Amino acid sequence: MSGVLITGGTGNTGRALSELLRDRAEIKVASRNPEAENDEHVFFDWHDPESHDAALSDVDRVYLVPPIGDIDPMPAVGPFLEKAKTAGVRRVAMLGSSMKLPGAPGMDELYAAVGRMPEYAILRPSWFMQNLAGPHAGSIRERDEVVAASGAGRIGWIDAGDIAAAAAAVLLDPNPVRAEHVLTGPEALGYADIAAAISGVTGRRIRFVDVGVDELTDRHVEAGIPAGFAASLASMDAEIRAGAEDRTTTAVEDLTGRPPRPFRDFVRDHRAAWIVDAEARTP
Ligand SMILES: NC(=O)c1ccc[n+]([C@@H]2O[C@H](COP(=O)([O-])OP(=O)(O)OC[C@H]3O[C@@H](n4cnc5c(N)ncnc54)[C@H](OP(=O)(O)O)[C@@H]3O)[C@@H](O)[C@H]2O)c1
Repeated sequence: MSGVLITGGTGNTGRALSELLRDRAEIKVASRNPEAENDEHVFFDWHDPESHDAALSDVDRVYLVPPIGDIDPMPAVGPFLEKAKTAGVRRVAMLGSSMKLPGAPGMDELYAAVGRMPEYAILRPSWFMQNLAGPHAGSIRERDEVVAASGAGRIGWIDAGDIAAAAAAVLLDPNPVRAEHVLTGPEALGYADIAAAISGVTGRRIRFVDVGVDELTDRHVEAGIPAGFAASLASMDAEIRAGAEDRTTTAVEDLTGRPPRPFRDFVRDHRAAWIVDAEARTP
């Protein structure tokens, strides 16, 4: 075997995957802003096809994080996969999602294209616990609110580290790999449960604010997400409300040999993300 190209290598799952693979394979960490002094780093931009050739040299496996926020990833990823085959890549482990983005038929085409690689694993995680310490952290810190449009719907929240561990398992598997896996954490929780858990570690009363899909879309747009993508993202909450994500699977343990991380451990370890100096808080 030769090396592994880790696209999204600086992100939630890619960073953790790099740590897991570093001592077990040659890795190339792809980024639009590679560290000049870091030999593992390689410049890579989905929207700069010339960067794909150098990134694909001397690799036979790819961890594929499709371009973030692209409703149709195929114009960027389709030609990349063709180049990858020609360059000798045998196995692609792609980060998909348990729920496919509504109104984004290009995602189905992408799954099919990855499925035409000689070997593939499509990892379809549920919602990341890291969202709560990332995109949700501002409203939790500033207004003691966690905002969603999913009502009492529950989600099998997963730690990004468990997705990385599943990816490492399929990328290192000595046997041929051709499968799709829905990855979840160990329990399904609604946003009211999430708010209660974060209240427990912060000592403040964090409220779940249940808004409509249109309001959530507007909030995403205000946060800088392009309108079309914002509407698709928000509409996923309606499906969660209807129960689409209320499940857990055994896939993480099946692939890695150990159970996924419980939500309470994540909350305990990320308390700092939700704490602020009282004077810095808006009224
Ligand atoms: N968040 C969730 O709950 C969730 C649930 C299920 C599935 N997912 C899927 O997980 C994926 C990752 O989401 P995330 O929020 O955790 O993001 P992330 O992986 O933490 O960050 C994005 C990564 O993508 C890279 N990137 C962004 N634009 C790029 C471009 N034009 N070319 C090359 N690389 C680019 C960034 O690298 P540089 O900035 O270094 O270039 C960074 O490493 C998404 O596709 C999403 O569909 C997310």
